Amino acid sequence: MAILDKHKFIETNATLLLVLSLLVVSIGGIVQIAPLFWLENTIEDVEGMRPYTPLELAGRDIYIREGCYVCHSQMIRPMRDEVERYGHYSLAAESKYDHPHQWGSKRTGPDLARVGGRYSDDWHVDHLINPQSVVPESVMPKYGFLERRNIDGEYIGDLLKANAFVGVPYSDEMVENAQADFLAQADPDADYDGLLERYGEEIAVRNFDGNQGVTEMDALVAYLQMLGTLVDFSTFTPDASR
Ligand code: HEC
Repeated sequence: MAILDKHKFIETNATLLLVLSLLVVSIGGIVQIAPLFWLENTIEDVEGMRPYTPLELAGRDIYIREGCYVCHSQMIRPMRDEVERYGHYSLAAESKYDHPHQWGSKRTGPDLARVGGRYSDDWHVDHLINPQSVVPESVMPKYGFLERRNIDGEYIGDLLKANAFVGVPYSDEMVENAQADFLAQADPDADYDGLLERYGEEIAVRNFDGNQGVTEMDALVAYLQMLGTLVDFSTFTPDASR
């Protein structure tokens, strides 16, 4: 009984209980947190990941501005029903260039982490203009105004710079050419060699919304069509050594 008596002493002495609780929590905290300071990297590098192109980055900004994350997550959990519906579970590396990340916390609509390439550009444009025209029971709001808002990428270099500042590997060359790359991606008649050289041959260059000039719709669709397409999961194997 002696040990229970000692415990009773602790439990009936609020200050002592508080001090001892804090002590236990601190030890637990240190054990969990301290090793992270000595690990070189907590994110496994994955082939295929690259920083967003200026047009995609502008689209991502529109996605955040319009609050798409309020209804859509970008985080496929490693559970069977999710993997069967949405595809391979999300990897930490897939959001390593996201500031802030768009994991979301609620799904009124489906997860969008791998929506890229699932529909045509036309489908996205129709759906964003009037979601109910393609999915009659949809509760998604209409975003037709995006198509009427032209953007010239005047500040896109600053956005790249801000991302570089927090660790996204945008080179000086990428920042310098940000506006040209921004305009080139939505115009198949433009000279987009530099864009492909800087971001990769796989970059989708096309007039996403079919309208003249670069619109917010172009940027948003470019972003949606890239989501989840960077890592090739037919060849990906998790690195079990970590
Ligand atoms: C009020 C909640 C809500 C908001 C806000 C919202 N959506 Fe949706 N979204 C839905 C619902 C519900 C669906 C499923 C029905 C449909 O396809 O319209 C959906 C479907 C989608 C789909 C098709 C996904 C698939 O796999 O079929 C895309 C793409 C999409 N939304 C993009 C967006 C974007 C981009 C924004 C922001 C500009 C946005 N949504 C804002 C509710 C929302």
